[in-house]
Amino acid sequence: MSERDGGGTDADGTGGERADTGRAATIDAIVDVVADSAEDIRSGLVGRRGKSDRENPSGDVQAEADVYADDLLEARLSAIDGVAEYASEERADVVDCGEEATAADTVAVAVDPLDGSSNLEPNNTMGTVFAVYDEPLPAPGTSIVASGWVLYGPITTMAVARGGTVTKFELSGEEPTVVEEDVTIPDDPLVYGFGGRVPDWPDDFAEFARAVESDPSHKLRYGGAMIGDVNQVLTYGGIFAYPALADNPRGKLRLQFEGNPIGHLIETAGGRSSDGSRSLLSVEPNELHDRVPLHVGTAVLIDRLEATLE
Ligand code: F6P
Repeated sequence: MSERDGGGTDADGTGGERADTGRAATIDAIVDVVADSAEDIRSGLVGRRGKSDRENPSGDVQAEADVYADDLLEARLSAIDGVAEYASEERADVVDCGEEATAADTVAVAVDPLDGSSNLEPNNTMGTVFAVYDEPLPAPGTSIVASGWVLYGPITTMAVARGGTVTKFELSGEEPTVVEEDVTIPDDPLVYGFGGRVPDWPDDFAEFARAVESDPSHKLRYGGAMIGDVNQVLTYGGIFAYPALADNPRGKLRLQFEGNPIGHLIETAGGRSSDGSRSLLSVEPNELHDRVPLHVGTAVLIDRLEATLE
């Protein structure tokens, strides 16, 4: 799955280009490893649907499959030349992979190894989310150079954003098969899905949700795994949100591992992302496991959301 990002040049006309070429090869390798690992993660779900006796840094009880997917990705991604840091929603600290994190040609990878793992028990959709940052973590979404997700649905698919364009793949065969290039989110919204308990939504978000629901051209699609819900929004147009909550104004989802990669991919596909007032990619992180109110989708609905939350 080779693809090269456009390379720039620095003052002497060579160093920056070399760094860009090295980084592009590292991104190729990261995308290949995530694609190649999808079948192992998927088949590893069997027999690992129970809870472990551990919690992740956000206080969620980890499923055995969360730990399995995280260990597998950590071993494979941290072994790639040019990957200086590996971070995951499932571990407290950034893993130092032995390369200079501030060098021009190294990157940091942030991963949600098994998004939506509460869907293990009822056997519903789940995903793997990744972002490649060109800065040490935690980092803002503006420093993402590639992002993507794997969706473990009836078939395994992958969406990747890099070089200003989004590509969708099927991962069923030996090699990933491109199923759509230059993916764009539809301009006319069709589906919506909102997370969190309705009584916990702030009044202004509830007002926005009621307006979306009462439009006869919209329909509810909510499956409880962010990647499944966001992938429907990318396919049909619409909005997915996990908003601020009465008892948690930062919402539930994590900026480095969920908000930034999803925001980067949806924005690359021509949509918008927002924390309620600005792009998710503009939110400055304080800590690795920061949460963020997350809203992504077709631009017209994110514009309306921000106008309602003002
Ligand atoms: O932790 C991530 C996640 O599983 C998302 O995939 C999903 O959108 C959300 O949590 C669902 O959380 P809950 O069922 O607790 O509202």
